[in-house]
Amino acid sequence: MRFLSSLAVAACLVSASLGAQIAHKALPNGAVSPDKLAATPSHDETWWKHAFVYEIYPRSFQDSNGDGIGDLNGITQRLDYLQKLGVDAIWIAPMFPSPQVDFGYDVSDYVAVDPQYGTMADMGKLIAQGKAHNVRIVLDFVLNHTSDKHQWFLESAASRTNPKADWYVWNDGLPVSTSGLTDYQKKYEHEGMVPPNNWVSVFGGSAWEWVPARKQFYYHKFYKQQPDLNWRNPAVEKAMFDSMGFWLDKGVAGFRLDAVPTLFEDTKLRNEPEKGGLNAQGDPNLNTIYTDNLPEVHGVIRRMRAMVSKYPGDRVLIGETYLPNTVELDKWYGGAQHNELQLPMDMLVGFPRPKKGTSPLNAAVFRQYISEVETQIHGSQPLLVFDNHDNVRSIDRFTDGKHTNQIAKLIATMLFTTRATAMSYYGAEIGMPTTTPARKEDVKDPIGITGWPKEKGRDGERTPMQWTPGPQAGFSTNSNTWLPIPKSYKKINVQTETGAPDSLLNWYMQLLALRRSNAALHEGGIVMLNKDNADVLSYVRTAPAGSAPVVIAVNMSAQPRTITLDLSGTGITGQTAKTLMTSDPSLQPVTSLTNVVLPPYTSWIASVQ
Ligand code: GLC
Repeated sequence: MRFLSSLAVAACLVSASLGAQIAHKALPNGAVSPDKLAATPSHDETWWKHAFVYEIYPRSFQDSNGDGIGDLNGITQRLDYLQKLGVDAIWIAPMFPSPQVDFGYDVSDYVAVDPQYGTMADMGKLIAQGKAHNVRIVLDFVLNHTSDKHQWFLESAASRTNPKADWYVWNDGLPVSTSGLTDYQKKYEHEGMVPPNNWVSVFGGSAWEWVPARKQFYYHKFYKQQPDLNWRNPAVEKAMFDSMGFWLDKGVAGFRLDAVPTLFEDTKLRNEPEKGGLNAQGDPNLNTIYTDNLPEVHGVIRRMRAMVSKYPGDRVLIGETYLPNTVELDKWYGGAQHNELQLPMDMLVGFPRPKKGTSPLNAAVFRQYISEVETQIHGSQPLLVFDNHDNVRSIDRFTDGKHTNQIAKLIATMLFTTRATAMSYYGAEIGMPTTTPARKEDVKDPIGITGWPKEKGRDGERTPMQWTPGPQAGFSTNSNTWLPIPKSYKKINVQTETGAPDSLLNWYMQLLALRRSNAALHEGGIVMLNKDNADVLSYVRTAPAGSAPVVIAVNMSAQPRTITLDLSGTGITGQTAKTLMTSDPSLQPVTSLTNVVLPPYTSWIASVQ
């Protein structure tokens, strides 16, 4: 399964343009308007509302000790780069002790550091040096499951009567003679017993694993080496909250909560409805209504928010929240109560699922989802993300095969110019491509081994960071890196792109600098423009008093498109716009808003005069 995949900037601080300010209007029918949202951020300087959060896969970012695997000291060495890029916080994928079956997402100790990534002292150094670079540290917390080698599970699995007997999701199963069993259940018979229902592991096979010592099955949403914790047991919640407290005391800025909608399962263990057909692992496609996004999870999240809020310094809770729609997403903020996660990820904008044969680069779809997350979450702060360690990189998902660089710039433009907090993944800023193994024997991610060739796993988006055109791309001194260095490193690397004014890396840096310095981009509201245009996504960032609004237009088609930006409904009176950034030089420098010619896949950002 794929989880679903030249600094003119200083001059950009635009001067006051009184004629171009927005008028805030009274709203019909009580709806939350983007105009209204404009007022919220300007009064609240909470750091994470304006942040750029950068995900680091620690195995793959920088190897400091020559063992071919990235580590914490490697991250510390690269803090200067991160600061220069404009990163406010790094989310580090799990660096806790782990058998590494799922490369760290199988944690065997929540309050220690895996020796292959470093020591607790190295982590302390990273937190302290990060602070000196204004780069906060966000840890990845795996709440749903532990490793099967965690002490808690070893104890729990030993008998039905031990003190942790009820820390995981155990079940007797059913005698194989029971009537009405599905064929799928019958495939998993042990000692005359079969799993209690048809639930399937996301990573393949039944979600139930037999343990002879208990003569019972345990439930695992992911690999069988990742048994699900029983979140109905208050002791589990306490142990996990205590572990989080350990790291909060050490000064981390918050947590990214792994797979958090999966904490609870149906107590009646009902079969999940089959949707028809088989997935890449050969298991029936199920509608996961009894194992995903159950309402009970919100109680845990509210208590967690209250616990984290006791710590000073605006600690933040970010959620890995793949959800079906914006209404569900709003619940993860706590709706009108705003008492759950500050930043559940919006996966609808960045990971669209186009109909077969159609492009995911679709202005109407982006417009719809960006508008929804701006207006339907009770004024909470959206979090957009296009890349992570589980999905084919966005540069490969959105390219038309010919305009790759322009399209990558367009995606970055959307990421950094709406009102949302922005999250990205190492290498996206240089356009690192997904490099999927060509042979099954080279695959490291277990789902690529079991799912080959339909599912080739996630190694492709986890290859080492490409720093230089030199040996091992500057990632390691060891020629035997844990995943091979992709051939693309000769051209696609930080060093080469730093020296190329038109590079994607420089586009990122300019966008991030502009987002900080320009008042409308930093704290203005957002209003969609030209809502019927099928090819061009355009919007205006309204400006706080004394600043100029900014228009953004991206042409998502292979044809030039001429647009008229009609600002009449927004209260903005300016008629022309001064280009701040464009991915095509023909748009320099001042344009009438009634006749903007956008070449194919061009991004344009301009301040309204
Ligand atoms: C999340 C992680 C993914 C991991 C899974 C199980 O989806 O992002 O990498 O395999 O949870 O922990």
